[in-house]
Amino acid sequence: MGRSLESEANSLTVRDNRTGKTFNIPIVDNTISATAFKAIAAPRKEGEREENETEKGLRVADKGFLNTAVIQSQITYIDGDAGVLRYRGYPIEQLALHSSHLETSYLLIYGHLPSREQYKVFESEIMHHSIVHADAEGFFRSFRYDAHPMAILTSAFSYLGSYYSEANPSLQGQTLFTKGDHNSLANMDKQIFRLIGKATTLAAMAYRIRQGRDFVTPPTGLSYTGSFLYQMDHLGQENYRPSPVLERALDVLFLLHADHELNASCTTVLQTGSSLVDPYSAIAAGCASLYGPLHGGANEAVIRMLISIGSPENVPAFLESVKRREKVLSGFGHRVYKTSDPRSFIIRKTADEVFKVTGKDELLDTAMALHDAAIKDEFFVKRKLAPNVDFWSGLIYRAMGFPLDFFPVLFAVPRVVGWLAHWRQMMLQSGGVKIWRPRQVYVGAGKRDFVPIEERKPVEGPKQAPTPVMHSGITKRTAMAEFKGKTKL
Ligand SMILES: CC(C)(COP(=O)(O)OP(=O)(O)OC[C@H]1O[C@@H](n2cnc3c(N)ncnc32)[C@H](O)[C@@H]1OP(=O)(O)O)[C@@H](O)C(=O)NCCC(=O)NCCS
Repeated sequence: MGRSLESEANSLTVRDNRTGKTFNIPIVDNTISATAFKAIAAPRKEGEREENETEKGLRVADKGFLNTAVIQSQITYIDGDAGVLRYRGYPIEQLALHSSHLETSYLLIYGHLPSREQYKVFESEIMHHSIVHADAEGFFRSFRYDAHPMAILTSAFSYLGSYYSEANPSLQGQTLFTKGDHNSLANMDKQIFRLIGKATTLAAMAYRIRQGRDFVTPPTGLSYTGSFLYQMDHLGQENYRPSPVLERALDVLFLLHADHELNASCTTVLQTGSSLVDPYSAIAAGCASLYGPLHGGANEAVIRMLISIGSPENVPAFLESVKRREKVLSGFGHRVYKTSDPRSFIIRKTADEVFKVTGKDELLDTAMALHDAAIKDEFFVKRKLAPNVDFWSGLIYRAMGFPLDFFPVLFAVPRVVGWLAHWRQMMLQSGGVKIWRPRQVYVGAGKRDFVPIEERKPVEGPKQAPTPVMHSGITKRTAMAEFKGKTKL
């Protein structure tokens, strides 16, 4: 009796005013199940579109996933109002101060901080899995000299997967990673070592191909970020060692970027992985999602914005144009944080350490003026728009001498860890993996009959027919040429 009273108290009572029926929906972990709403059905009203499927139960609309929980997770906790970020319960500030990117990777993937021995094995597996097949050179050389490095990296992850047929559920059977037995776990962890180990190698190759440099075999005896810097920068000097300040700064940046729960790219990895595709394809999909300017491209956008502002005295005019909705203040605002992103404070400190050895970035004064003016401005305060991680990270990358379009790569490499932690968790979740197939609200044409081409009235309009495109080069000249079988473009 007590139990049922308690469960009634922990529920939501919904009355369907169309039918007068009431429904009790349990609340578990402060969450209600969207599928419970499927039971709330009503007869279709006269004249109502059949595509509404009213008699099949209510759907829950959530454009942009603003309030939909798609998985139970034990990995990362964010309180966006309080500016809290914890990996497996540990505050990000403590990890940034005391841990390293690889130790934090272990934590994110396996759920606890490793012992010294566990860490040694993990680090050695990651570092030993950094070398790629010699054929990869040909793959990287097939890109144009000006290819965006994120286009190269995204393709490279997919390419990498083609080497490991033992990691492909399409070939080995769909329970390859979901069984949870020793062999399945060992197979899964091997792919995790490979993906983290080779992420820096693929990224460094993407970097070098655009610099017109030969590739470098991953060195031994360096840290994860030390090896990455070496692979990008070594040009044959004896006993080459990257700057320890840059190595440590990059390590902190990597740790801060390692996970951020269900952001767009992580969700993409899980959505893609939910079809039980191999992890290389899922990571490539995540990389593609991260490439977008609203996600991993924001730090690059911050620098372009600062360059366009030019100097501190132009800041007020720029902010006015943001308020007139002509521009966006890149590096401000976040879907989850409604106060300062906790990572932005740590990054600000890291920036100072980097600037001590690289010299102050010439855009810093403009960045400071913009930051100070925006956090006091009513427009941003009212909308709870505060600096996010990208506001400062771009300035550090620039001071370190990385090209602008390489910034998203510097975000993607560490984020591979978070993607894999979530992917592994999903593969091993109790009840198995369910394919992620959301619903839509169909508002298109009702059933209509096919019309033969002679009887159709052309439908015109900017979005209803292909927009005429400009032709240039060969196509333009060919349009003016004469040849047999020519059709009008
Ligand atoms: C991150 C981001 C996509 C989050 O978007 P979101 O959760 O959908 O936020 P909303 O669009 O609902 O923002 C709420 C309001 O603030 C405005 N806003 C949000 N970010 C803004 C920005 N950077 N500059 C100017 N206005 C902004 C929106 O226009 C909206 O205004 P309105 O309520 O008057 O229409 C968005 O803040 C943004 O585009 N920021 C810049 C890009 C960036 O730094 N991305 C990196 C994130 S780590």
